[in-house]
Amino acid sequence: MKNHQDFRYLMTAKNEKIFNETGKRQKFFIRTYGCQMNSRDSEKMTALLLQIGYEKAETSEEADFILFNTCCVRESAEDKVFGHISRLKNEKIKRPNLIIGICGCMTQQSEIAKKFEEKYSYVNLVFGTSNRQRLPEFIWQTIETGKPVINITEDEGLPEIEDVPVTVRDYPHKAGVNIMFGCDNFCAYCIVPHVRGREKSRPSEDIINEIKSLAKDGVKEIMILGQNVNSYGKGLLEETTFPKLLRKISEIDGIKRIRFMTSHPKDFSDELISVIKDLKNVCKHVHLPLQSGSTKVLTDMNRKYTKEKYQTLVKKIQTEIPEIALTTDIIVGYPGETEEDFIDTLEVVKTTGFSGAFTFIYSKRSGTPAAKRKDLVPKKEVNHRFDRLTETLYPIMESINENKVGKVFKVMVEEENKGRLDDHTLVHFTSDKSFNPGDIINVEITSAKTFYVTGKTIAPKEIH
Ligand code: SAH
Ligand code: SF4
Ligand code: F3S
Repeated sequence: MKNHQDFRYLMTAKNEKIFNETGKRQKFFIRTYGCQMNSRDSEKMTALLLQIGYEKAETSEEADFILFNTCCVRESAEDKVFGHISRLKNEKIKRPNLIIGICGCMTQQSEIAKKFEEKYSYVNLVFGTSNRQRLPEFIWQTIETGKPVINITEDEGLPEIEDVPVTVRDYPHKAGVNIMFGCDNFCAYCIVPHVRGREKSRPSEDIINEIKSLAKDGVKEIMILGQNVNSYGKGLLEETTFPKLLRKISEIDGIKRIRFMTSHPKDFSDELISVIKDLKNVCKHVHLPLQSGSTKVLTDMNRKYTKEKYQTLVKKIQTEIPEIALTTDIIVGYPGETEEDFIDTLEVVKTTGFSGAFTFIYSKRSGTPAAKRKDLVPKKEVNHRFDRLTETLYPIMESINENKVGKVFKVMVEEENKGRLDDHTLVHFTSDKSFNPGDIINVEITSAKTFYVTGKTIAPKEIH
């Protein structure tokens, strides 16, 4: 039986043969939807495809292989994917050798995988979230047999592609690093545990080695990724916790900024608070999804904390680390949410002072417990609440940004004239010099908007 490595060799040889015959390299294009985990998975698959002799295409039109790495957290995310795939049908008729693949969270739902198989038969590859390391094998199979490959497995262990260095990143100076996969929390509305499988932590040594090699490759900022980073370490043979891991990561040479997401409020430990406080290169920013401010709704959602517990945690973090920036996720219109419940959410928003928030309208996901509920909030009411939420949030965000005006901050450059403060605030700056992504510069803030601040560089480029 052939293993992963055999298929990598076979595909490399196949691509080399095509190149020798035609003088052209086979090209691929990956379209990524969803969260940063998916972005990181796409980077890993990019590395794998480059290793087996593919070249990156600038657009999908010039690609010989188009891969959709999908998200299904809300219905709107799925609709986008179906729209894109439908539009490719004519392209496939024009170019029969085009290989179309779909992977990621969406395909991990059996009814969706079936839909692709039956209604979108021009799609060549359908695979899931736990077997993406087998991509070369799947491409090989569809080329050899001329038939679609549908391969959705529940659990193939850690899906990390450890042995292929990621040299092509969305940003040269920053990278996401998965420390765990899956989720065991089963929030009642959420599809993620159903499509990403059970929570599994990576051994800390693998994580450290990956970050060390990223640092050698010029990465200055690490975004640690996991659905609930606070429960990192569960199930591992080694005795470790997320704060312990953070300490180890912070010692790696060259890593100037460490961010992490997501922290579930239910197990945010005191030890974590002191690590964020003590370690200079751990950013003073916590993304702490609230979801709802009503204890009743939180209980229905299976979030395992109350309004008061959330507020107490916020107070503790803000007291210990006064410069901390808190951002959040909020769902509006959860089944059974009353006006009173919603007012509780507004109250937590007002008392916390979030510097940013992702706000979502509840989306029914089949297979989740919440999908069975009949007590839906009328659409008009949900939209009205959504507007009231943003009307409450935005002035608070703006005033937090206004407090920065006149002060000088260290900014990590991301693109020309664009960067981020330690607390993740986006800054547009002017300067008569040009900088590289990853440079740290001093910027004086001159004005504030809801979603960003503006400023000017005030000192020569400073690296430290
Ligand atoms: N693991 C993270 C969240 C991952 S999903 C956490 O628990 O914090 C990102 C966000 O999408 C969630 O925080 C939630 O606000 C939102 N979300 C998830 N399922 C949703 C649904 N069915 N409808 C609307 N928003 C949803
Ligand atoms: Fe979904 Fe909850 Fe897990 Fe986050 S913690 S991924 S919201 S089930
Ligand atoms: Fe979407 Fe999957 Fe992420 S459902 S939000 S891409 S874990």
